[in-house]
Amino acid sequence: MSLFRSVVRGTGSALPRAVVTNKDLEARIDTSDEWIQQRTGIRQRYIAGDGETTVSLGEAAARRALDAAGLVPEDIDLVILATATPDNTFPASSTQIQRRLGITKGFAFDVQAVCSGFVYALTTADLYLKAGMARRALVIGAETFSRIIDWSDRTTCVLFGDGAGALVLERQEGDPSGPGVLISRLRADGSHGDKLFVDGGPSSTGTVGHLRMEGREVFKHAVGMITDVVEESLEALSLTPGDIDWFVPHQANRRIIEASAKKLGIAIEKVVITVDQHGNTSAASIPLAIDHAVRDGRIRAGDLVLLEAMGGGFTWGAVVVRW
Ligand code: UT7
Repeated sequence: MSLFRSVVRGTGSALPRAVVTNKDLEARIDTSDEWIQQRTGIRQRYIAGDGETTVSLGEAAARRALDAAGLVPEDIDLVILATATPDNTFPASSTQIQRRLGITKGFAFDVQAVCSGFVYALTTADLYLKAGMARRALVIGAETFSRIIDWSDRTTCVLFGDGAGALVLERQEGDPSGPGVLISRLRADGSHGDKLFVDGGPSSTGTVGHLRMEGREVFKHAVGMITDVVEESLEALSLTPGDIDWFVPHQANRRIIEASAKKLGIAIEKVVITVDQHGNTSAASIPLAIDHAVRDGRIRAGDLVLLEAMGGGFTWGAVVVRW
């Protein structure tokens, strides 16, 4: 029987024009550059301005990923967008990225798993490709959390930023040691829904609402959930943390990233960290970090790359990819 793999053909990312530094925030709310850096590792974030939306950022990231892959929009027959901040309640923003790219075949839909959105979307795309329902997928994470932040709440507004990242995945017949998505493990536990949520929605309040988070509670669960799902993935592949070339975690907080890497036994030099530059961009953070590490030459063909995320729901998951 043939073995099909979902192979990464190209990556891309996009950021809004405006950078907002911690010093800029000091002028607006009761906070300090020192507090933000010490507690989170964040130095700056990008914030969407006029005309910049989840769809426009997602489109820009997708175009760069297609360029990197040497492909054109007509080559794509599946678009999956991970986002918790779509341009509209409907139609799905993925369809509007599809329209802007001029893709008229195949299908498109959004995936909503907040900060875990990208690992959910990548897993979903991998299964559609392996099942033969599509040949090439654009998997995009794009967010404009600045539009759902309560800018008067210093406990949350300093943490988030806007941006987008994208991967082109292609169904290829391969061998077990070749490139492609090797394994995914996804989890959800809705009993934690009140620890990180938006206090509005189309069916409850009829409003968009604002992000609310019990940061300490989320922090308490994050490292354990992340390491559980990573260890389970590696075990299923008969791999050890020492086999990982690059660890690309969701970029929520440098302390969570460092504690997870330490608990897993992954050297910090192998961890891709962009939270200092981008803040927490939710579903966009992993593909943004991947694109940076691919373009600066860290992630190369043949590397074993471990992705993981945890966020609202709670949802969490891990994906291992041979580049
Ligand atoms: O991506 C989805 C997942 N989300 C996360 O992973 C976020 C997880 N949580 C975290 O990253 C951390 O809990 C935070 C960065 C949100 C907060 O760090 P912390 O060390 O847990 O701080 P804390 O909430 O315990 O607050 C400590 C103090 C409080 O003052 P008191 O009560 O000790 O006097 C806060 O009022 O820091 C205060 N504080 C601030 N001070 C200056 C909270 N926000 C700020 C701020 N500037 N922006």
